[in-house]
Amino acid sequence: MNEIPGETVQEQTFYDQVGGEETFRRLVRRFYEGVAADPLLRPMYPEEDLGPAEERLALFLMQYWGGPRTYSDHRGHPRLRMRHAPFTVDRAAHDAWLHHMRDAVDSLGLAPEHESELWRYLTYAAASMVNSAD
Ligand code: HEM
Repeated sequence: MNEIPGETVQEQTFYDQVGGEETFRRLVRRFYEGVAADPLLRPMYPEEDLGPAEERLALFLMQYWGGPRTYSDHRGHPRLRMRHAPFTVDRAAHDAWLHHMRDAVDSLGLAPEHESELWRYLTYAAASMVNSAD
């Protein structure tokens, strides 16, 4: 980041550092390709069309990492654990979700420090979403 004397230096968000909207869209597109073909996860998604779910996850992640707050403008406070309560998120669902997310993260070709920060968050968030014992 260039420092120009007399101007405020704005910290770049993680969102900006990894390439902004395009990167998060690529991540979530790839993830949902995996979900669409997954015999455990696919039936959990209530809508026939996975497009709206893809949009919600993309907007949520963009907001979380410092991008536009469009997710909350449309959906309000995330309350993700509550929103997952209608679904059985057990160990198997958790593992399948992370499996497709790992593939999606790998497809981005991020710098190692960005990749590990993103992955740390995703694994932590996935563990916190588990709501059913095996
Ligand atoms: C651990 C395994 C997980 C499973 C099996 C799972 C499954 C689901 C399902 C079935 C839906 C409903 C589809 C929809 O209407 O959008 C959903 C929604 C959503 N999930 Fe997950 N999820 C998991 C973890 C996560 C994690 C870790 C995050 C965040 C990092 C996340 C973020 C979201 C978001 C943002 C929505 C849409 C919420 C809304 O605005 O209604 N999910 N998830």
